[in-house]
Amino acid sequence: MSAWLTTRRLALHEIAAEHANELHELDSDPRVMRYIGNGRLSTREQVDDAIRRIPRIYALYPGLGTWRATRRDGGEFIGWFALKYIPRTAEVEVGYRLRFPAWGRGYATEGARALVEYGFDDLGLYRIIGVTHPDNAASQRVLQKAGLGDVGWGHYYGHRVRLFESVRNDAWKPRWPQEVSRPSAAR
Ligand SMILES: CC(C)(COP(=O)(O)OP(=O)(O)OC[C@H]1O[C@@H](n2cnc3c(N)ncnc32)[C@H](O)[C@@H]1OP(=O)(O)O)[C@@H](O)C(=O)NCCC(=O)NCCS
Repeated sequence: MSAWLTTRRLALHEIAAEHANELHELDSDPRVMRYIGNGRLSTREQVDDAIRRIPRIYALYPGLGTWRATRRDGGEFIGWFALKYIPRTAEVEVGYRLRFPAWGRGYATEGARALVEYGFDDLGLYRIIGVTHPDNAASQRVLQKAGLGDVGWGHYYGHRVRLFESVRNDAWKPRWPQEVSRPSAAR
């Protein structure tokens, strides 16, 4: 199946039922889950439930969603990226969760930048936010490198979080090289 979006090194694909095992494995690593919610690992039931909800989001909000990321060369599973509404809010967030062996190679920055650019340029979003555990310095750095600024504290997902945002204006231009192949139009 062709990728929904590609960056220099990554291909983003829609998530389907067959990806349950790899997503459960991702959420079973305490290093990965350390700063997610209360740090608890996801149960298989929670992952299956997410996998049922994710495809509905593609249909409900075209252009938004959660996508699994693989290496373009070789197809190695890297993790996932998301551009989606935070439940029960009108805020669109950029998010990511990568397998531990994939950390430290700039993948999160590469994927987040692509989604921010897509959100502003193709979807015409006005504001994109990112929310992190206050101590998740790596994620905060990724958001900053994707053009989101630290705007202080927020309350999302039932937690006090560090809040980052980027607001589109007429002068908005990506500050990074454009290496992204995006969907021709939101479906
Ligand atoms: C957070 C995460 C996505 C980062 O992925 P990554 O691919 O390693 O990120 P990148 O390589 O693109 O960039 C990481 C940046 O953070 C920096 N960094 C890493 N660990 C850090 C730390 N403990 N303190 C400060 N900065 C740190 C890196 O040096 C790099 O910045 P630099 O390029 O200026 O040197 C990854 O660790 C992950 O998936 N964690 C688990 C899930 C998670 O926390 N998701 C975010 C929820 S808000």
